[in-house]
Amino acid sequence: MKVLVVGGGGREHALVWKISQSSGVDRVYCAPGNAGIEEIAHCVPIKAVDIKGLLNFAKDKQIDITVVGPEAPLAAGIVDSFEKEGMAIFGPNREAARFESSKIFAKEFMDKYGIPTAGFNIFDDPQLAKDYILKHLDQCVVKADGLAAGKGVFVAKSKEEALDAVDKIMVQRSFGSSGDKIVVEELLEGEEVSILAFVDGRTLIPMVSSQDHKAAFDGDTGPNTGGMGAYSPAPVYTEAIHEQVMDEVFKPFIEGLHGEKIIYKGIIYAGLMITGAGPMLLEFNVRFGDPETQPILFRLESDILEIITSVVEGRLHEADIQWSSDPSVCVVLASGGYPGEYETGKVITGLKECRDKDLMIFHGGTKKENGEIVTAGGRVLGITTRAADLGDAVAKAYRWTEKINFDKLYFRRDIGYKALKGIT
Ligand code: AMP
Ligand code: GLY
Repeated sequence: MKVLVVGGGGREHALVWKISQSSGVDRVYCAPGNAGIEEIAHCVPIKAVDIKGLLNFAKDKQIDITVVGPEAPLAAGIVDSFEKEGMAIFGPNREAARFESSKIFAKEFMDKYGIPTAGFNIFDDPQLAKDYILKHLDQCVVKADGLAAGKGVFVAKSKEEALDAVDKIMVQRSFGSSGDKIVVEELLEGEEVSILAFVDGRTLIPMVSSQDHKAAFDGDTGPNTGGMGAYSPAPVYTEAIHEQVMDEVFKPFIEGLHGEKIIYKGIIYAGLMITGAGPMLLEFNVRFGDPETQPILFRLESDILEIITSVVEGRLHEADIQWSSDPSVCVVLASGGYPGEYETGKVITGLKECRDKDLMIFHGGTKKENGEIVTAGGRVLGITTRAADLGDAVAKAYRWTEKINFDKLYFRRDIGYKALKGIT
């Protein structure tokens, strides 16, 4: 089979790496890819949101299946365009992608189908939102309705912070039309966990659990990023919580798809808060998470292309999905300044010395320049390791970080700490 992977970050490197190991694969292309992906696949300089360009390429090369990494092309309807031309593609269509591209759609769906989530109100007028906050709330979470590259959510610990968030989203319009409407919701306390699942519209099979680290600095301080590291499994996700999530989140999700006549194929990602009152759904994403995918796929023992094909063909119930019991962790090496402004083009050293059967260095923002690998993004590399226990996997990952360098490199030194505090 000829496979095209759309995207160019750490998640896509992990996908390309895993797909390349499939017995059914002949050739893997990636658009646009990065320097790490280039070593194992054919990269083509087409942007992930250039749907026309991607479709022409897929038709020209007679691609058997296209796998979409990021949310933007899904929200823009890449699946609809491909399917219209009879091209097989893995991911939800435009309507189904609203679970991520509209927080209001997602919250109203949760409400209608009884999925536990934070209480919320919707506003399309900043003054009404502010009046409501002043009158009713001391702390809350303010969210832009539309896509905002993970930056449209403000956890406000005071009325002032909440009012500032409303201004930023609706008055300054920092996220453009994504901020035409907002959700103001109750602030939940607890530990977060990401549960990704394969879904073909009828059958849903969850993957192993994982936990992301969204804050830039140790101890979950500093600004929110796309994710500074992740590990799998997350011990907070016990068997009892899993049963509850299957019953209270995923079962009503599938029922709701039927109720709303939504065809959903691909990945559904449930971002959960494990509160004192049980698991509550913070958000849905309609794709693999980044960096959760890196440790998750490091644990996948089955042929991912077979699973992907079974989803696209609507026979996921036949899939056999096996996971390694060994935990895995991914520590992200980032460019100094990220998630704010940062420089690129810094030469990365030490990569060649890093070889081990329990190590994968997934590239995020890298490119090749004059024969050298240089930085090209905020999240540059994901040092991903596995071991018989999480503590050893974490120790291994940090040992490998010592070998790698680039100007202004920074990373969190406490990835996995919530899980480890229970066992060390
Ligand atoms: P979201 O994009 O909705 O997942 O929000 C991004 C991040 O904001 C989440 O990973 C949480 O850390 C935080 N967050 C979102 N909603 C809430 C909430 N209701 N209570 C507390 N934290 C939240
Ligand atoms: N790691 C969070 C996300 O992919 O949305």
